[in-house]
Amino acid sequence: MKKIFITGCCGYIGSHTCVELLDAGYEIVGLDNFSNSKPSVLERIKKITGKEIKFYEGDMLDKNLLEKIFNENEINMVMDFAAFKSVGDSVSKPIEYYIDNVSSVLTLLSVMKEHNIKSLIFSSSATVYGTPEFVPITEESKTGGTTNPYGTSKLFVEQILKDLYKSDNDWKICIFRYFNPIGAHQSGLIGEEPNGKPANLMPYISMVATKELEYLSVFGDDYDTKDGTGIRDYIHVVDLARAHIKGAEKLNKEKSGLFIYNLGTGEGYSVLDMIHAFENANHVSVPYKIEARRPGDIAECFADSSKAEKELNWKATLTLEDMCKDAYNFTKNRKEK
Ligand code: UD1
Repeated sequence: MKKIFITGCCGYIGSHTCVELLDAGYEIVGLDNFSNSKPSVLERIKKITGKEIKFYEGDMLDKNLLEKIFNENEINMVMDFAAFKSVGDSVSKPIEYYIDNVSSVLTLLSVMKEHNIKSLIFSSSATVYGTPEFVPITEESKTGGTTNPYGTSKLFVEQILKDLYKSDNDWKICIFRYFNPIGAHQSGLIGEEPNGKPANLMPYISMVATKELEYLSVFGDDYDTKDGTGIRDYIHVVDLARAHIKGAEKLNKEKSGLFIYNLGTGEGYSVLDMIHAFENANHVSVPYKIEARRPGDIAECFADSSKAEKELNWKATLTLEDMCKDAYNFTKNRKEK
């Protein structure tokens, strides 16, 4: 029996993971409150996979709803994608962020415990490393020093999960620290759909390319990097989604344990690299202006993902060109609708 409960199943990473899991033969029970996603994603997942999710609309903070879901379905693992993820909003709305990203996980964990379901994959972020002491970043690198409530909420949940595991070794927990997920499903049906003006680089570049936005502001060209712009480890969202299948296989195999993995490609690209890669992949132009640094940004962040490769037999396989093509394809599709 392979039934997985997915919170945030219609969101950016959740929806791509649903597709990969359904294709791999897993059954899914999904929850979403559509706070940053759309009901049409369910139809699009069905169109891609030919399979359906058993869906519940609602909030992870709603304990009664979680009880109902666990009573009505024989769930044996949970993947938790439901969270707010805007760094800027988290600074102006810390209470909302801590409620949504931390309290909701506590609600989920308490219901899981009551139902004796102790297998969890949690979506964390490279942001827990704060300003990295060195790159590439390994899982042993120091965490902390996060610069915003979003990052701190991920750090808090990691600590909660470590404390939980310490208190009860029956738990099987996998924490994935995502680097910078970009791109979209090859079908062009699902992808990143930010509400309003995007804050992240790739959706912004895509919308400049489709002329929905005039130009990209490059936040700083005076970092200590090869061309002065910030360097990140961009990873195709489908590669990231596939890691969750490996994570599920690992947890199904293990008796207990808390496992932490970086999910990145190990390659660092600058903002200017990304603009040029996007232009070359899609034969479009992306006008940009160099502007001031964005507060809270770091110069360089990329992963050592060899632990995931060794222990999960997972490795990112999609290229920067794939990421750029798929992101543009999705943005164009979205615009035409
Ligand atoms: C941020 C968060 C990360 C979160 C991710 C996705 C931090 C430190 N990082 O990553 O935790 O998972 O968003 O929500 O909290 N850039 C521009 N112009 C733009 C937008 C971005 O030049 O209009 C630059 C940035 O300065 C940076 C790079 O592009 O160098 C990537 O930025 P972004 O896509 O926002 O991701 P991060 O800040 O790395």
